[in-house]
Amino acid sequence: MPEIRNVHSFITHDSARKHVSGKAYYVDDLPEPSNLLHCYFGTSDVAHARVLSMDLSAVEHYPGVVRTLTARDIPGDNEISPMHNFDEPVLATDLVQFAGQPLFAVLAESRAIARQAVKLAKIEYEELPAILDIETALKDQSFVLDPQVMKQGDSQVALSTSPNRLQGKIFTGGQEHFYLEGQVSMSLPKEDGDMLVLTSSQHPSEVQHLVARSLGKPINAVTVEVRRMGGAFGGKETQAAQWAIITAVFANATGRPVKLRLDRDDDMRSTGKRHDFLIQYDVGFDDEGRILGIEFEHAVRCGISADLSGPIADRAMFHSDNAYYLPDVTVTSYRCKTNTVSNTAFRGFGGPQGMVGIERVIDAIAYQLGKDPLEVRVINLYGLKERNVTPYKMTIKDNVLHSLIADLKESSNYTARRQQIAAFNQNSPVIRRGIAFTPAKFGISFTTTFLNQAAALVHVYKDGSVHLNHGGTEMGQGLMIKIAQIVADEFQIDLDRVKITATNTGKVPNTSATAASSGTDMNGMAARAAARKIKKRLIMFASKKFRVDKSDIRFINNHVVAGEFEISFAKLAEQAWMGRISLSATGFYRTPKIHYDPETSSGRPFLYFAYGAAVSEVEIDCLTGESRIIRTDILYDAGKSVNPAIDIGQIEGGFVQGAGWLTSEEVWWDNQGHLRTHAPSTYKIPTCGDMPEIFNVQIWQKGRNREKTIHRSKAVGEPPLMLAISVHSAINLAIAGKLNGETLPSLDTPATPEAILNCLSADT
Ligand code: MTE
Ligand code: MOS
Repeated sequence: MPEIRNVHSFITHDSARKHVSGKAYYVDDLPEPSNLLHCYFGTSDVAHARVLSMDLSAVEHYPGVVRTLTARDIPGDNEISPMHNFDEPVLATDLVQFAGQPLFAVLAESRAIARQAVKLAKIEYEELPAILDIETALKDQSFVLDPQVMKQGDSQVALSTSPNRLQGKIFTGGQEHFYLEGQVSMSLPKEDGDMLVLTSSQHPSEVQHLVARSLGKPINAVTVEVRRMGGAFGGKETQAAQWAIITAVFANATGRPVKLRLDRDDDMRSTGKRHDFLIQYDVGFDDEGRILGIEFEHAVRCGISADLSGPIADRAMFHSDNAYYLPDVTVTSYRCKTNTVSNTAFRGFGGPQGMVGIERVIDAIAYQLGKDPLEVRVINLYGLKERNVTPYKMTIKDNVLHSLIADLKESSNYTARRQQIAAFNQNSPVIRRGIAFTPAKFGISFTTTFLNQAAALVHVYKDGSVHLNHGGTEMGQGLMIKIAQIVADEFQIDLDRVKITATNTGKVPNTSATAASSGTDMNGMAARAAARKIKKRLIMFASKKFRVDKSDIRFINNHVVAGEFEISFAKLAEQAWMGRISLSATGFYRTPKIHYDPETSSGRPFLYFAYGAAVSEVEIDCLTGESRIIRTDILYDAGKSVNPAIDIGQIEGGFVQGAGWLTSEEVWWDNQGHLRTHAPSTYKIPTCGDMPEIFNVQIWQKGRNREKTIHRSKAVGEPPLMLAISVHSAINLAIAGKLNGETLPSLDTPATPEAILNCLSADT
């Protein structure tokens, strides 16, 4: 009997057909209860003000309106801060801190009525001075959290004794998540004042907790369920709670189910985005380009509250080395408070911003010394036996970049193409090309150690079919199918015997957000542990029944072989049930080996690193400033991938999302603090036409996690985004090619056509 290959196989996403045929249920697609009410919310239209009065009488008298809600009407805590900072209300009270901040909500018979009625509110403000940019916040020392410093060696001495020294800065722009399914929640009141909340959240347990607190009830009174999200990208790690709470408070007050779905423009105005950063550097290096000492200063736009800004700014610091050894280093991070929406998690969680900083430094060194930037990158890579300690004093033992970069350099034909591009540019005054090769090293684990835990619940029914549940959530990344593969593999049954079910706080409690790319690593281990418990009981049962030694029992191809006996898995399940054997188990996993001390900024915050590299070739039009990606080659170390089909999708999607962040997506507030890029008309995400024309994505065949992760795989959700830094770097080269070829253009991100044209005209 052949083994069933459920892992390491190319398997289609379980919902792929449902996604494209419209049969996948999202919260707003669920059949609506007949007594459903709809709500909407009203926001501040000034950036910073005292609220002198709020008159909602016209709102309340609008036909079809049931009632209104202000902070005063929330029975429990008016609070959504995820890290216990108590600095962000569900609904603002007497102070508004950004334009777009929710102030009140309206419950009505229809969504259209609620949205109309919202406009009738009369609010009087006494405006206060607003801080709208990072520079002002830095100057005024306006911070949401204390500055942090990470230090190794003595950067001052190293800088002052280096033969070469450069200083510079780069601004990295924000990014709107632009998940296709916007924020949405539906709350259904149950017996005894309990509440069922259906929502689109990466973190059902946190929504459960915050809803319970807002209702003044224990956590067990609230159940939160998430079947899937239509994309999240970090934007639903904390941002779903506010809307869930508004529906739950209304539902609690009226005893009727209540739904809230945000309009796209409001979703963009009122929910957090990627943090924009102002990064300054001071670097010393030798004549070959080897970094001897470096100082970074990160100034981070957090918006009005801490949200996840602490760990995000930390992760930026943890990735300010990217793949390079920084012997004497100081990284200082300022968590700036501005009167703009509170920024939040976004794929990479600060890592991409930190990496843009060091990649910029490498480019600057290469241009200064007249070298191929790849040469400078390679010479600075972490060593295998020495030069392998990070700025947070972790020794890197799994570095595969030397080998992976050599493979990609060869397969992408980098060296020859770089020469061809130089030749092309000599005869092309308007269209200029550039190429860049950048690596990425990304730490896997939550840097907040206690979050690295996961649990699962597995049932085997008496017909041998399996019900699978775990704490992870599906946002399109393919987590559910991967965990189902792992469980099916453990039992050696066909994948379609495993039922994927919605994430539900009543089944698996106290979960962490599905984030930090650790969904498969953690939930896969927990689910396998649960399956193994059941398997162990089945083995015990079969061993007694067939009188064979436990070591002679094997699960293979929907069967269980016990010595010379053979029985189908389904039959064995039925007999075990009749033999009064429990066929249900929980599984638990905590990531081993990790620890971190923020006081000394040292430890092992990550179990391992995911690695990859990309070569991108771009073309710019020097008359219009437009850019396009002609070709990208990626080699990514997914370890021994659980599902290469899913992982390649993640690599492609992550890269294109990163390219959007760095080239076309511009988050822009006017001088009143109004977000002017609040719709697809003004905010440009990449479409299929913006994909690289030639896109060679490969999973590195030599990959194998040296840590004992699930099936020796590696995480894939976020790191590929950072491979898009190659695009930005290539655009720099294309611009430089138009100039004297020696000066690194001062190109911030995103490299929009305007930014590219500005660079071209500033430097000629
Ligand atoms: N892929 C899709 N299709 N949609 C998403 O929302 N989110 C990304 C990534 N890939 C996302 C995605 C982010 S921010 C993270 S942290 C991981 O998926 C989370 O899932 P994982 O831990 O299962 O990889
Ligand atoms: Mo991802 S930014 O960790 O949700």
